[in-house]
Amino acid sequence: MTQKEKLEKLNEKMIACKKCALRKTCTQVVPGEGSANASIVLIGEGPGKKEDELGRPFVGAAGKFLDEMLSVIKLEREDVYIANTVKCRPPENRDPSTKEKETCWPWLEKQIAIIQPKVIITLGRHSMNLFLPDEKISEAHGKSFEINFPGMGKQTFFALYHPAAALYNGSMRQTLIDDFKKISKLLKK
Ligand code: URA
Repeated sequence: MTQKEKLEKLNEKMIACKKCALRKTCTQVVPGEGSANASIVLIGEGPGKKEDELGRPFVGAAGKFLDEMLSVIKLEREDVYIANTVKCRPPENRDPSTKEKETCWPWLEKQIAIIQPKVIITLGRHSMNLFLPDEKISEAHGKSFEINFPGMGKQTFFALYHPAAALYNGSMRQTLIDDFKKISKLLKK
């Protein structure tokens, strides 16, 4: 089976998942999208209203900003893989709970195992703390971490602010753009 076929099969299972209560309140599951053999996997927090409506990750205002930043480093959304810590929208866009993130974690773990990216980019603290539980986003953003992650072996992580948090905050926005530009260098390593 190709990586693409493996992801498609996994998506079917994710769509049928009823392991937590989020599935009862969301419209549809948002498994993720992009290239099955991408060098970069970007991980956000969870689907928002627009993502829930369309079944696709990062398609609202934060997604537009993410696309702009990708184009700065000459990448398109089709070149990377975009996923979330939870695949179903938390009601009223509240933060996903620790329990919900833990319940959804095996899906993300399987996505990463299939794609085998060079770099995992975490967007915001929820995503970062899944892999780097002791880091603070204000200190870790723009930095890469090489860690031996359980079940994944040695993996490179790169922490970024969440595009939604930076969208309407001038200085954070510029910091995020500057941090984003470091990705090209990281990929060349
Ligand atoms: N914010 C996220 O964290 N993920 C999305 O898919 C959209 C907005």
